[in-house]
Amino acid sequence: MGKLSRVALLYIGVVAVAAAVLVARGPFTGLSWQYIVVLGVLVIVSESRATQLRQGQLSWSPSSAAMLASIVLAGPVGAALVGAFTALGLRRGPSPLQRAFNTSMHMLGAYLAGRAFLALGGHVGLPDEKSFPAIIAPFAGAALIHVAVNHGLLSGVLWLTRRPERTPSGAPEGHRVQGVGVGLTGRLLLSDLGYAAYGLMIAALWSVVGAFAPLLVLIPLFVARWAVAQFAEQQKAYEATVGALCQAVETKDFYTRGHSDRVSRGSVMIAREIGMRGERVEAIRYAGMLHDVGKLGVPTKVLQKTGKLTEEEYAAIQLHPMRGLDIVREIGFLDEALAGIMHHHERIDGRGYPMGLAGDEIPEFARVLAVADAFDSMTSTRSYRGARPVDEAIEELRKWSGTQFDPAFVDAFVAALKREGWQRPEPSVLAADDLATIAAQDHDDPGAPLRVADSR
Ligand SMILES: [Fe+2]
Repeated sequence: MGKLSRVALLYIGVVAVAAAVLVARGPFTGLSWQYIVVLGVLVIVSESRATQLRQGQLSWSPSSAAMLASIVLAGPVGAALVGAFTALGLRRGPSPLQRAFNTSMHMLGAYLAGRAFLALGGHVGLPDEKSFPAIIAPFAGAALIHVAVNHGLLSGVLWLTRRPERTPSGAPEGHRVQGVGVGLTGRLLLSDLGYAAYGLMIAALWSVVGAFAPLLVLIPLFVARWAVAQFAEQQKAYEATVGALCQAVETKDFYTRGHSDRVSRGSVMIAREIGMRGERVEAIRYAGMLHDVGKLGVPTKVLQKTGKLTEEEYAAIQLHPMRGLDIVREIGFLDEALAGIMHHHERIDGRGYPMGLAGDEIPEFARVLAVADAFDSMTSTRSYRGARPVDEAIEELRKWSGTQFDPAFVDAFVAALKREGWQRPEPSVLAADDLATIAAQDHDDPGAPLRVADSR
């Protein structure tokens, strides 16, 4: 958690004391320890390995379902004791202070939710057929209080431990959150309310299958959670693969560093503007990142040549879309992105390469990429010219609209640019001496086509 401010420490202290004082008041007589121990063990299991969906984002665990079931089965004090089992979670990482805060927060949330359940007319004990539907309103009220208290306390600690320059990675890994920004609260609220319903299911099933109820309800949840974790891992592997290939291209062709990323962003802007559906937007994001991966198959001395190219050299550059396809063809998740990579230098008038496709023969991804690619090239610094202003680049896109570019995608890009703006790359940090050795030409710039030496 790092060094905390006095206010943050005071806040954590107040939460801990409040939880301890409320629970210490009892009553402890007549508590159903069977429920408390079984559900407490569930909390330990849930808290021992919260699933992190993405690095630095949210993670979740179904422990709130166990706590809400305990509200019905064991009342406010019993539920708070179930919350206290959070302290025994086996997950490595949380510091003692984080653990203390998480535990106090869970105890307080469960206790106050239990009080709300009673205040709204709920009865503690095993629900049966006659308990429904009367139990639903008090249970829903308890679930709302539970979520509100947890998220309120969590938002407070995140705010007090936030770091100005980064997401609050030093914040306690409270509840189902690891370094989560408050902006994610909405999604967490929804998922927690969803888990609350499982709490009622556990309580209701207990009268039929006894202590197996939590297993029966939560095993499918754990399986689903495992599947989500696998998916998150897979996404991470995809990102790493694409990132490594981009890095390789940009190492080889220094002057285009950041270009892949910006083409990817521009392509996504167009895709969203024309209403492309989610999976295709994701695919075009990859296509943007990898559109020039074929440069890995072009000799470095050709990519970095300052003078006119020989016909062979020009042919080598023109081969890069095919080379790109060869390199990434076997990467299954790229799917439609492959067509974009292969054809991103085709022109609407049929005078592009490598196939000379025209109009709608050119895959949609390739037509989108072509616009973003040219725009980023024009608005980036090249050794033979400075970055051109955005307005000038838009004018250039319009000029070539209908011959080089698909007019619909030029329009979509311009509309998205006007709304969202464009973050231009930082100017080059190369020394002036280096500039002469870096690529003097740009195969993406419509205003500066490659120069080929006359071989005759
Ligand atoms: Fe290219």
